[in-house]
Amino acid sequence: MTTEDPDQTILVEKNGIEAKDETSPIWTRYALWLLVPIMLALYFSQESIVLADIKHERQVLPALVKPVHYDLNLTPDLNNFVYDGSVKVSLQVLNDTSIIVLNANELTIDTAIVFVNNTSLSAIDIQFDNKTDQVSLTFGETLVKGLGVQLLIEFQGVLNDHMSGFYRSSFKNSNGSTSYLATTQFEATDARRAFPCWDEPSLKATFDVTLNVPSDLTALSNMDIISDTPAAKSPLDLKTVKYATTPLMSTYLLAFIVGPFEYIEGFTTGEYNGRPIKTRVYTLPGLSNQGRHALNVAMETLEYFAKVFDLPYPLPKLDMVAIPDFDAGAMENWGLVTFRTTALLYDEKNSAFIYKRSTAYTVAHELAHQWFGNLVTMEWWDHLWLNEGFATWVGWFAIDHIFPDWQVWTMFATQNMQDALNLDGLRSSHPVEVAVSNPSEIHQIFDSISYLKGASVIRMVNSWLTTQTFLKGIHSYLNQHRLSNAATNDLWSALSETAGKNVSEFMNTWTQKTGYPVVNVQLNGKNQILVTQARYLLTGDLGKGEDDTTWWVPLRVKVPEQVLDYTLKEKSQTFVVPDNTPLKLNQGQTSLYRVNYSKELMTRLINELKKPDNGILSEPTDRAGIISDLGILSRSGEQNTVIFLSAATEFKNEKNYFVLAELTKQLSHVISLWEGFGTIEPRINKIRRDIYAPLAKELGWESKQGEAELDKLLRVLAISEAGLSGDENVIAETKNRFEKFINGDHSVVSPDLRYTVFKISLKQASNEEEENKVWESVFAIYSDESFPIDQNIIALQSLGTGIKYPSVITKTLNLILDDKRVRTQDAWMFFKALGNNNNSRELLIKFFESNYEKIYQRFSKSMGSLGNAINSMISDINDANTIRELESFFSSKDVKEYSRSLNSGLEKAKVNAAQIQREHNDMIKWAK
Ligand SMILES: *[C@@H]1O[C@H](CO)[C@@H](O)[C@H](O)[C@H]1NC(C)=O
Ligand SMILES: *[C@@H]1O[C@H](CO)[C@@H](O)[C@H](O)[C@H]1NC(C)=O
Ligand SMILES: *[C@@H]1O[C@H](CO)[C@@H](O)[C@H](O)[C@H]1NC(C)=O
Ligand SMILES: *[C@@H]1O[C@H](CO)[C@@H](O)[C@H](O)[C@H]1NC(C)=O
Ligand SMILES: *[C@@H]1O[C@H](CO)[C@@H](O)[C@H](O)[C@H]1NC(C)=O
Ligand SMILES: *[C@@H]1O[C@H](CO)[C@@H](O)[C@H](O)[C@H]1NC(C)=O
Ligand SMILES: [Zn+2]
Repeated sequence: MTTEDPDQTILVEKNGIEAKDETSPIWTRYALWLLVPIMLALYFSQESIVLADIKHERQVLPALVKPVHYDLNLTPDLNNFVYDGSVKVSLQVLNDTSIIVLNANELTIDTAIVFVNNTSLSAIDIQFDNKTDQVSLTFGETLVKGLGVQLLIEFQGVLNDHMSGFYRSSFKNSNGSTSYLATTQFEATDARRAFPCWDEPSLKATFDVTLNVPSDLTALSNMDIISDTPAAKSPLDLKTVKYATTPLMSTYLLAFIVGPFEYIEGFTTGEYNGRPIKTRVYTLPGLSNQGRHALNVAMETLEYFAKVFDLPYPLPKLDMVAIPDFDAGAMENWGLVTFRTTALLYDEKNSAFIYKRSTAYTVAHELAHQWFGNLVTMEWWDHLWLNEGFATWVGWFAIDHIFPDWQVWTMFATQNMQDALNLDGLRSSHPVEVAVSNPSEIHQIFDSISYLKGASVIRMVNSWLTTQTFLKGIHSYLNQHRLSNAATNDLWSALSETAGKNVSEFMNTWTQKTGYPVVNVQLNGKNQILVTQARYLLTGDLGKGEDDTTWWVPLRVKVPEQVLDYTLKEKSQTFVVPDNTPLKLNQGQTSLYRVNYSKELMTRLINELKKPDNGILSEPTDRAGIISDLGILSRSGEQNTVIFLSAATEFKNEKNYFVLAELTKQLSHVISLWEGFGTIEPRINKIRRDIYAPLAKELGWESKQGEAELDKLLRVLAISEAGLSGDENVIAETKNRFEKFINGDHSVVSPDLRYTVFKISLKQASNEEEENKVWESVFAIYSDESFPIDQNIIALQSLGTGIKYPSVITKTLNLILDDKRVRTQDAWMFFKALGNNNNSRELLIKFFESNYEKIYQRFSKSMGSLGNAINSMISDINDANTIRELESFFSSKDVKEYSRSLNSGLEKAKVNAAQIQREHNDMIKWAK
C-alpha cells in the first residue's frame, strides 16, 4: 500500500504571523514557562502516557483447518448498497474438530454447510465473536484429520461507505447527479468484511471469483475474464462475469470492482517478461487520458522489474484503477491495483510537476509489490516493513532509472530519510520489526517507520553490498519463497548467501531496535577523531537504561579528496584522519544517524560552506545533511538555534533545490516555534527573506523554455518563502496574479505555482474582507471539475494557511465535518494547515474537543486519517498548558485506534515547550 502523506509530495512550509506587540505576548508566555520545569519532569518520567500495553499474542485463527481454494460468487446491488454472496471453500482438516472458526466482520451468515464424502452437514450453531472478527460454525459430527472437505457459506453484506472491505464510492455522473461504484480495500484485515475467510497473510489459497453485475457496467478482478454471459434466472439486466483462477495468494490482495469505467491500454515490450503484458488504466468516463503518464510508467516498470528481479510478472494482465473515494494512496491488489485519483492521474498541461513525480512513484511502488509482497508475502504483519520498506526503496529505484533528471535519491536522502529520522527520534517510535497482534495495532504501523525507515535501512544494505549483489540476493529471496511467505531473517539469509557477508549481524540493530544513534565527533590530537555513539532522542533527555544498543555505524568520513570508509562498532572509538582538515561524516547521507560535531569541527564545516565550491561539502546531500542535523540537534539541545541560524545565513548563494528545501523545513520549524515572540520572529523572517527574496527575483515567475523540473521546484520554493516571510515585491505580484487567475486567466499562475499563490494570498490578505474573499475563491477551486484533481486538492490543502480572522477560521473548521462538500478522505487535511497556524490552533483544538464523537465517527473507520489528523493538530503546540489540557482530554477516551500518532504528537509538542524554555533568553539576546 502507499499511504497518503502530503509531506512526501508537497513541501509543507510553516507560516509566520503578523508581528505582535513587543512585550505583552512574551511576558504572558514567559510567565507560563516558569511553571514548565515541574511539568516537564512529570511528562518525561512517564514513558508513554496512553499507549496501550501491547500483548505479543497474535490474534489468529485456530489451526484446525486450512483453506486451499475459494469459489467466491457476489451480487452487489448498487442502488441499495447491499450484496448477496456465497463462498465455497475447499479445506484440509488438520485436526479432528466439529467446529470451524474463520473470520467475518459485519456480515450476515444465513447458512453454512459442510460437504464430506458427498453428504452434507448444516451448521447447528453459528456464533460471532465481534471483538476478534471471528465466527464459529459448529457441526453435529467430527471432521476427521486428514480429510478434504468443502464448506459452503451463504451471506449478505453492506456496501459500506468506510473505504474498507467491499465498499461504495460516489461520483457525479454526466447529468450531474450522484452515482456509485463498488470497490474493495482489504489490507490489512478487511477481506473478512467482504466475505467469510481465513484472513491471515500466510493462509494462501487460490480463488475463483464470479461477479453478477448490471450488464452496462465494467467488472474487474485480479485475473482476466474467462466468461461473460447474461445471468441465469435474473429478473434484472445482469451479467455473470467469471475470472480465471488466481495463483496461491493472501486474502488481503484479492479485489473486485464494479462501475462505469473507461480505459486506455498498452502492452509492454515483453523484453524481460517473455511476453508483452497487457496493461490498462481505468477511470471514470472522460478522465482516461490523464492516465497516460501512469500507463507509460507502468509499462516501463513492469519490464524493468522483470529484469532486475530476474523473474517475469506472474499474472496475465495488470489493471490500474482510479477510485474517487480511497483511504490510502494506492493498494497493490495483485493484477488490479487501486489508487486514489490524485495518485494515478496526471494532466500534462494542467497538473503540477510534483504530481508527475508522485504518480510515477506510486505506480512503481505498487508494481514492486506485485513481486515483493504478492508473490512473496510477509508471514505476519510484524514484517510489514519488509513489504513497504522494500517497495519504497525499489519504487524510487525504478523512478531513478526512468527519470534520472529528477535526482530522486538526493530527494530521498534529504526528505524521506529525514522524515524517518524525525519520527524515530521519539520515545514513542517503534522498531522496524514490531510485534503486532490485532487489527488496530496492525493499522497503526503503516507509518513512516515501516515505509521510510524501512526504505532507508534497505538503502543502507544496498549501499553496503552494492546494487548488483543486492539485487542478486533479492532474486534469490523471491525465487526461494515464491507463492509462499517469508520473514525478515529469510531476506537476510538470502542476501548473506549471495554476498558472502553476515548481513544479519550488520542489520539487526537497525531493524530490531527503536531509534538510531547520534554520533559525536571531536578532535583527539592533531590527526585523530574520537567518535562516540548514543541513542538519539529528540527530547534530549536520554536516561541511564535507555542507551543499551551499540549500532554498527558506517562512518564514511569525507575529507578533502577522499572518503575514509570506517565503521564504528563500539560505543566509542578513535580513527585516524589527515591533519587539520575539515571533515564530514556520513558522506552521501546513506546511513541513518545524526552527527554532532565539536565546536572546532563545526567551524571548519561552516568555513567550507563559505567557499564558492563548498569545499568538501560540494555534494548537495552533504550540505543538506549538515543543515538538517544542526536544525534537529538544536531542538534536542546538543546544538542551539543561534548556531543554526548563523549557519543558515551561509546559504545565501545556495542554488540547489534539495538543500534549500531542507533549510526551509528547518527554518519553518524555528519560525513556527517562535511565532508571536515579538522581537524574535521578525528577525528570523528577515533571514528567510535575505535568502529567498533575491533568488525569487532572479528566477522570476515564468518557466524558461525547456527548463529542468528541479528548476521549476526551486522557483516555487523561492517565491513561496519570499512571499510567506513578507517580501513586498513577491506579495504584490502574487496578489496581482491571483486576481487575474480568479477572473479566469489561468495562464498567469502555472500549475506548479498555484499552491504557493493560494497560500501567500491567504496569509498576506490585508483585512478580513480580503481574507474571506480569497478563501471563497480558493474553496471554489476545490470543487471546480474543470481543474484536474491535483489542483482541487492543492486548493483544499492551502485553505487553512495563515488565516487569522475567526470568521474565516470557523468556516474552515466547519468543513471538517461537512460530508456534502468535502470527501472524508480529504477532510483530515484541514488539521494540517490549521494545526500549523498559530492563529487557528487553539480554535481547532476547541472544535476537536467539542465535536469529538462526530469526528471519531467520520474518520475512525478509515485507516490512518484520525491519527494523522490528531498528530497534525498537536505537533506544533508549544505551551505546556495546552499539552496538559489535551492529555487530560484524551485520558478519558479510547485511543487504541490512534495511540501511536497521539503519543508522537504529544512528544513533539513537549519538545517544543522545552526548547522555548531552554532557549528563550538566548534568542532574545540574539534578536537584539
Ligand atoms: C489436535 O487436537 C488434540 C486434542 O485437542 C491436541 O492435543 C493436539 O495437540 C492437536 N494437534 C495439532 C497438530 O494441533
Ligand atoms: C455481531 O456481528 C453480527 C454480524 O455482523 C451482528 O449480527 C450482531 O448483532 C453483532 N453482535 C453484537 C453483540 O454486536
Ligand atoms: C469419508 O470417506 C472416507 C473414505 O471413503 C472414510 O474414511 C471417512 O470415514 C468418511 N468420512 C465421513 C465423515 O463419512
Ligand atoms: C460424489 O458425487 C459425484 C457426483 O455427484 C461423483 O462424481 C463422485 O464420485 C462422488 N464422490 C464420492 C467420494 O462418492
Ligand atoms: C443520470 O444518468 C444516469 C446514468 O448516467 C441515469 O441512471 C440517471 O437516471 C440519470 N438521471 C437523470 C435525473 O437524468
Ligand atoms: C550472523 O550474525 C548473527 C548475529 O551476530 C549471528 O547470530 C549468526 O549466527 C551469524 N550467522 C552466521 C552464518 O555466521
Ligand atoms: Zn506499499
